[in-house]
Amino acid sequence: MPARQNWFEGWRLFALLMLTLIALCVWIAGMRQFEVDGVRMVIRFTARTSLLFFCLAFGAAALARLWPNAWTRWQRRNRRYLGVTFAGSHAIHAVAIACFSAMDPAGYAAATSLASYIFGGVGYAFIAAMAATSFDRTARAIGARAWRTLHLTGGYYLLFQFTVSFGKRVPDVPLYVLFLVPLLAVFALRMISMAARPAPRTVEAG
Ligand code: HEM
Repeated sequence: MPARQNWFEGWRLFALLMLTLIALCVWIAGMRQFEVDGVRMVIRFTARTSLLFFCLAFGAAALARLWPNAWTRWQRRNRRYLGVTFAGSHAIHAVAIACFSAMDPAGYAAATSLASYIFGGVGYAFIAAMAATSFDRTARAIGARAWRTLHLTGGYYLLFQFTVSFGKRVPDVPLYVLFLVPLLAVFALRMISMAARPAPRTVEAG
């Protein structure tokens, strides 16, 4: 079906969401005169917007299968653009991280660890590979099977990483448990949708 020409579908949707995200990040950093506090607020803000777009993209197919309606069909139809918006949001996370490390090396060292580099680095490698293969031509180039393996493995890895990154903050700020709800919901929806799928037909012998 050809992409509809409005701002809520396709690449236009992506452009609209990215412009909104960038404007909000500049506004948030500006509230703290672009000092390190503002940059850290942007890191936390983009972690949360990334969570939203990741869940919308990774849960889209299961939701549309289980509850087909206008909203879930829109979400399913636009899941590629929601996924690329997640990558864009996390690119801003990376830029803000780089600013934080340059502006306050001691604070940055205290906020990170070897584990955050290893797990975060793997996360970013998946995000880059998934975003790069979110175009018709690149998706075709790697083939349907490799595409599915990459996006499935990457998706579950990122689900795990979001769970750890938000989960480790729960002991200090119990309300962080709320961020785990959409992650758990997406996981449950995918499992239920998979279980509801009809079993592949077997060829009877004889
Ligand atoms: C090398 C890669 C990464 C580094 C160095 C990094 C660094 C950071 C830092 C320093 C913070 C804390 C900011 C503050 O307290 O002021 C943070 C927060 C966070 N990051 Fe990243 N990050 C990386 C990759 C990722 C990835 C790949 C994900 C998820 C898939 C992620 C998810 C989060 C989350 C959920 C938070 C908590 C936000 C909050 O408190 O609301 N990060 N990151």
